[in-house]
Amino acid sequence: MCGIVGYIGNGNVYDVLIKGLQRLEYRGYDSAGIALLTPDNKINVYKTRGKVSALENFCRDKNTESRLGIAHTRWATHGEPTDNNAHPHYSEDGNLALVHNGTIENFKVLKDALQQHGVHFHTETDTEVLVQLIEFIKVQNSCSLLDAVREALKQVVGAYAMAVIDKNEPDQIIAARKSSPLVVGIGDDEMFLASDATPFVDHTKNVVYIDDEHIAIIRKGEPLRIVDFENKESKVSVKQLEWSISQLEKGGYPHFMLKEIFEQPETLRDCIRGRAVADQGKVILNGVLSNSEKFLNANRIIIVACGTSWHASLLGKSLIQQFCRIPVDVEYASEFRYSKPVITDKDVVIAVSQSGETADTLAAIQIARDKGAFVYGISNVVGSSIAREADSVLYTQAGPEISVASTKAMCSQMVIMALIALYYGQRKGLLDAKTRHEALAALHGLPKQIEDALPAMRETAQMLSPLYASAHSFFYLGRGHAFPLALEGALKLKEISYIHAEGYASGEMKHGPIALIEPEFPTFALAFNDALFPKVKSNIVEVQARRGPVIALANPGADLHVEHLWTIPSAWGPFNAFLALPAMQLFSYEMADYLGKDVDQPRNLAKSVTVE
Ligand code: AGP
Ligand code: GLU
Repeated sequence: MCGIVGYIGNGNVYDVLIKGLQRLEYRGYDSAGIALLTPDNKINVYKTRGKVSALENFCRDKNTESRLGIAHTRWATHGEPTDNNAHPHYSEDGNLALVHNGTIENFKVLKDALQQHGVHFHTETDTEVLVQLIEFIKVQNSCSLLDAVREALKQVVGAYAMAVIDKNEPDQIIAARKSSPLVVGIGDDEMFLASDATPFVDHTKNVVYIDDEHIAIIRKGEPLRIVDFENKESKVSVKQLEWSISQLEKGGYPHFMLKEIFEQPETLRDCIRGRAVADQGKVILNGVLSNSEKFLNANRIIIVACGTSWHASLLGKSLIQQFCRIPVDVEYASEFRYSKPVITDKDVVIAVSQSGETADTLAAIQIARDKGAFVYGISNVVGSSIAREADSVLYTQAGPEISVASTKAMCSQMVIMALIALYYGQRKGLLDAKTRHEALAALHGLPKQIEDALPAMRETAQMLSPLYASAHSFFYLGRGHAFPLALEGALKLKEISYIHAEGYASGEMKHGPIALIEPEFPTFALAFNDALFPKVKSNIVEVQARRGPVIALANPGADLHVEHLWTIPSAWGPFNAFLALPAMQLFSYEMADYLGKDVDQPRNLAKSVTVE
């Protein structure tokens, strides 16, 4: 979730903030804004949908003289990307201006309560609730901004980094975080605030990282103070930055792809947050999947997508058919759009797209709607074309995905598919309470399971890559829930290492592909400890009988004798897919890196294919 910059000092505040936003552009965003406290203590807010350059153009004829300021690049989660929904947001009386990254999960409850006290809202965002709540508390208790922020954040549930200024307390910026990053730069008689150090690293390398549930009090002419929500002072430890700008943009990782692979536990948490209530065995998708009756009474579900999103859709088919017993077809959008599809108004179409702008998927939606089908959209970009064209939309909340190779987006799409399958399985009365509880507990356990497993997965991938980098072709094999993962593993390898790779249902090998097996043609087999394991094992033996080397991705205790047995933790039922995904992503990443390929921007590829 995007970017925050703040500045107090003797420099040109507007310039520092705008240049700071430009440094944060790499994080992906849809709108930008700035709040400037003027020398006569007014707060001017300027904000626009679109790029920082659009904000600069907007500000050309505006008063940008200021003594301090905060600025923001938005990645919309609540409310479409519009000028009005862009940050900063004023409080109702105009005394405060606030910017925020992340999500306020209980914003609806807080908003209703504030409205009952006569507070008026002017945007669709969750963020506006925060600034109105702070002002409400400040006025009700006649307290300081700091105390109002402390009290407000105790009431907020969610993930956030925020900064707020108050024209009645003119020489300070109050900032706080929980789960979303914030760092303070300490300069000579000036201080900076930002989501990472890229906006101010040219000015100072003295940084203070703010811990979760802590508040930074940034005041002109005073040393930085940090307190917790109980106003208890925290030690301010200044660190020296060693990273270059490029390293900073990638959070210290060598490539965005690796950063985004390691972000998947957080992606899972963000995607599950507020939607899967494990202790109640409930999935809450109300207000997002409106028209649930359409889904419950559907004759058939057709999922249309491209590339990695198509693979996530195949896993969705497995899960929805398993838990909801509704027939599901998964179609390449590029095929669907020209196939004169037989669709009725009893069908439900689900369009899956990370970017929400893929031309083939967009065209498929339009055809489905013209034929009367109800269309759900699953996208990572609020307000994207696909989100707007669909009748109802679910956002994956994965945050911006910069690397062309899709990683965390697929993880989040798989979560959404699991939530849909569990939600409608529950609504159709097909999921007993025990299964629901098990599934949701497993879902909640996945982020930590993956977090703990990632370092070892990367080590194994680094060990294997020199051994297999000379291969010209790879098979990826899987059955059942692992089949979509096999297809995805093959796509990842070919699109970033340029090694040819084919994903196959492992039972299909004997129908032709096995003719290709030879010692120079390795096979990557997914062998989860499920009911199909014996079948996969025999397919592996068939490959080995033709002297094909095998890497088997398996769970602990797998009875396999292969060139490389890669053991990963096992998860509940079909959720093994969530552990296999990062292992295969890391294998492709290390292979491409070992071969010196341009991992983040592979040749011939675009992040969003907005043309046929
Ligand atoms: C996946 O790594 C590729 N970048 C590509 O296949 C991508 O998944 C496909 O173009 C679909 O994109 P979308 O999810 O934005 O619609
Ligand atoms: N949830 C807020 C919004 O949608 C902030 C999103 C962000 O992280 O930029 O406006």
